[in-house]
Amino acid sequence: MDYLDLVRNRHSVRKFKDLKIQEDKKNKIKEKVRSLNEESGLNFQVFFDEPKCFKSKIFTYGSFKNANNYISLVGEKSTDLGKKIGYFGQDLLLFLQDLGLNTCWVGLTHGKSMAKINKNEKELCLIAFAYGDERGKIHKSKDDDDLSNIKEFYNEKNSIILEFCKLAPTALNQQKFYLEFKEDGTYKLIRKKGPYTKVDFGIIKYHLKLAEKYWEEKNER
Ligand SMILES: Cc1cc2nc3c(=O)[nH]c(=O)nc-3n(C[C@H](O)[C@H](O)[C@H](O)COP(=O)(O)O)c2cc1C
Repeated sequence: MDYLDLVRNRHSVRKFKDLKIQEDKKNKIKEKVRSLNEESGLNFQVFFDEPKCFKSKIFTYGSFKNANNYISLVGEKSTDLGKKIGYFGQDLLLFLQDLGLNTCWVGLTHGKSMAKINKNEKELCLIAFAYGDERGKIHKSKDDDDLSNIKEFYNEKNSIILEFCKLAPTALNQQKFYLEFKEDGTYKLIRKKGPYTKVDFGIIKYHLKLAEKYWEEKNER
């Protein structure tokens, strides 16, 4: 799979077609949710053909059309929950994208989900998904210098690593992160403070994993 194409083609979509997802795709999604829960210990829950959660018209920013499928991102309360949900949630979101579906992370602009949340658990976000009525568009990005010290350590690999990070979705498109490249070829992702930045951090970490895989495969070709 070309991971760079996958992340380049992903944009948040909030208007969907009134089309049901085929049974074979639903089964693949259920299986992916099951295996991610097994790997992570999280309690993600998928709901198909459930129109109530995104029905509200009260939001001017972040309102949805035909958002009848979603995954509730639930896990046991802990200081790391945001990061974990971001990482495994983005794995799931890109899986949906690869199945030809469109998606959107939703922290705030949704109604009550159908998820069963135990006392020791928390629902941090949802992922809305279906066939898009549009493809979305590339988000504005901060300057490379605001997001990293790439100027000091410019090379092809580092520029790819930074591109994967810049393409990651972040809450309110805030991009509150800094990528510090080092002399020995390694780098460190630093989280800045703000709402949902732990989830954003986990999402970017997942993009970094894909960036490394992409770079490895590119050099094997
Ligand atoms: C943690 C998180 C929470 C988000 N919450 C919402 C939300 O409540 N409503 C909404 O419409 N979009 C939400 N988004 C989507 C962002 O606005 C979107 O990812 C960002 O503007 C970048 O655009 P892109 O996804 O098209 O690249 C959220 C994204 C993330 C990562």
